[in-house]
Amino acid sequence: MEDEPPLGPVRPAGQKSVNVRRYSGTERVPVFYPPLPHFAGAAIIVGMKIIGINGSPRKGWNTHILVEESLRGAASKGAEAELVNLYDLNFRGCISCFQCKRLEGPSLGRCAVQDSLRPVLDKIDSCDGLIIGSPIYIGELSASTRALIERLTFQYISYGADRKPRFTRRIPVGLIYTMNVPEEALESSGYPARFQFYEDLFTGIFGPVKTLLSTATWQAEDYGKYGMTMFDEGARRKRREEVFPQDRLRAFDLGRELEAENGKS
Ligand SMILES: Cc1cc2nc3c(=O)[nH]c(=O)nc-3n(C[C@H](O)[C@H](O)[C@H](O)COP(=O)(O)O)c2cc1C
Repeated sequence: MEDEPPLGPVRPAGQKSVNVRRYSGTERVPVFYPPLPHFAGAAIIVGMKIIGINGSPRKGWNTHILVEESLRGAASKGAEAELVNLYDLNFRGCISCFQCKRLEGPSLGRCAVQDSLRPVLDKIDSCDGLIIGSPIYIGELSASTRALIERLTFQYISYGADRKPRFTRRIPVGLIYTMNVPEEALESSGYPARFQFYEDLFTGIFGPVKTLLSTATWQAEDYGKYGMTMFDEGARRKRREEVFPQDRLRAFDLGRELEAENGKS
């Protein structure tokens, strides 16, 4: 009996973990969640597969923490959650080869570039929910997040008259942005229009989108060492201690609520 293979699909056995630098020191944090038990002779219900992308080069900082928190939220509902640190990969944006549009070609609807983003695109293609986190860099998403979004979305965008996306399922998406600007400066910075653009892009291809903003973030361990006198370090630190934990909770909820969004269009 013990030698029998488990029935049905199971989550990956074992658990990976990463070292995450916290303000209180280094902590080892799981990024895959424990396998579901096997029930001999019974159907096994496997949770949603959620992919979380950290589009910041900094591990253990704002974006990473919030994406990880959202994955914890998803895992709390039984999802199989996986974190991808985009800056660990070596890839570029779309090279306009058009192989994903080539009718009857081997890569129709699929990015043809073979690099380290390829497995990530494959994972996203079969996942049940997607979370992308990015810092705002010079008014835009980080370069690697943009590169991912070019490759991810263009392969599914159809230039056919019906404009029907080549991603044929509907999955929920969470978009998390961290930024230096305070909330009251968002409007004048023009960011809401940008966030709306990405909401519309992802809704059109994938499904319902929830956006989470974390503003006036803590940018460096010691502002004094980096000539950051334009900021009130004390106020930022206070915000870090009092407001960022709320952002973490909102990120957790975003991940937890992805399941309820699954299947909605
Ligand atoms: C290259 C660079 C450009 C930035 N540009 C902006 C910007 O245009 N607007 C803004 O609000 N914050 C900007 N920031 C601040 C970051 O968006 C903010 O600190 C963010 O929370 C960093 O995310 P992380 O801690 O996950 O790395 C910039 C930071 C860097 C390093």
